[in-house]
Amino acid sequence: MKVRKAVIVAAGWGTRFLPLTKSQPKEMLPLLNKPLLQYSVEEAIACGVELVVIVSAKGKRSIEDYFDRHFELERMLEHSGQTRLLKEVLLPCDMADICYVRQKEQLGLGHAVLAAKRVIGDEPFILFLPDDLFQQKEKVLQNMITISEQYRGSVLAVQAVSEAEVSRYGIIAPEYVAERVHRIVGLTEKPGAGESPSNLAIMGRYVLSAEVFDALENTPPGRNGEIQLTDALQSLLLHHPVYAYEFAGDRYDTGSLPGWIETMVTFAINDPRIGPGLRERITAILSSSSGMKYPLVDGEQDGNVVMMTERR
Ligand code: G1P
Repeated sequence: MKVRKAVIVAAGWGTRFLPLTKSQPKEMLPLLNKPLLQYSVEEAIACGVELVVIVSAKGKRSIEDYFDRHFELERMLEHSGQTRLLKEVLLPCDMADICYVRQKEQLGLGHAVLAAKRVIGDEPFILFLPDDLFQQKEKVLQNMITISEQYRGSVLAVQAVSEAEVSRYGIIAPEYVAERVHRIVGLTEKPGAGESPSNLAIMGRYVLSAEVFDALENTPPGRNGEIQLTDALQSLLLHHPVYAYEFAGDRYDTGSLPGWIETMVTFAINDPRIGPGLRERITAILSSSSGMKYPLVDGEQDGNVVMMTERR
């Protein structure tokens, strides 16, 4: 069955960015001059998705506003002859059919995915965790869809990580099928030291059978007391084949403050309009001796930012 729908999970607290995310959804943080979420919507459209389901939550209305029309702003841009900007402003409104479901209680990633059950029905769908961005975005998802059709199963995007990093991800136990394709025979969410079945980590793209919803409904709270998607996939694979696609190219993790800043810098220095000037400025900053004027807001303890990176 053709994949026509995508679910983008945008319902988390954004705790790694507090206090910033107290009134601003993490998914609306900028990457250059677009919000993070737009990159996932664009990626979904590029793969032929016809309906995007955004799982949202309390305090996230700015997401709906962003993908909606803003007539006063449009009129102002039109009257002042700023047609290029007008086009950019209209783009998110026209790019996709988007509908919203709310996760009423934040009980974990699996619980958020389950909120989309009614809208997805019994069709296969793509699941996006919008924190994760890929360099070869269309290619990763297209290859996953092809694998899903060829092997008649669900497919997760995976990439090898270092031993120190396995505790930040869902990790698969793989069985070789073909070049960069594995059948998944087990999964563990954020395994502790020495417990990891491999170093292949799930990165935020999934092509899933709707059967996952039944599995989610029967999944008890797992790690951190949350309903984990990884646990539901573990029971799904007992009666439905689940594969992993080991994708090539860089992946950007915008889900932590250092990761988001690193992604922003990478995108910015590679942007043809602002990149060259920015590179010069960064070189100048690195060679200047002036100290930091605006230190980070500290969390509960010193080194909170480092802790957040480690926990992801
Ligand atoms: C989630 C998933 C995890 C996956 C990761 C990818 O974890 O639970 O299995 O490896 O996304 O980014 P989170 O980052 O929400 O803690």
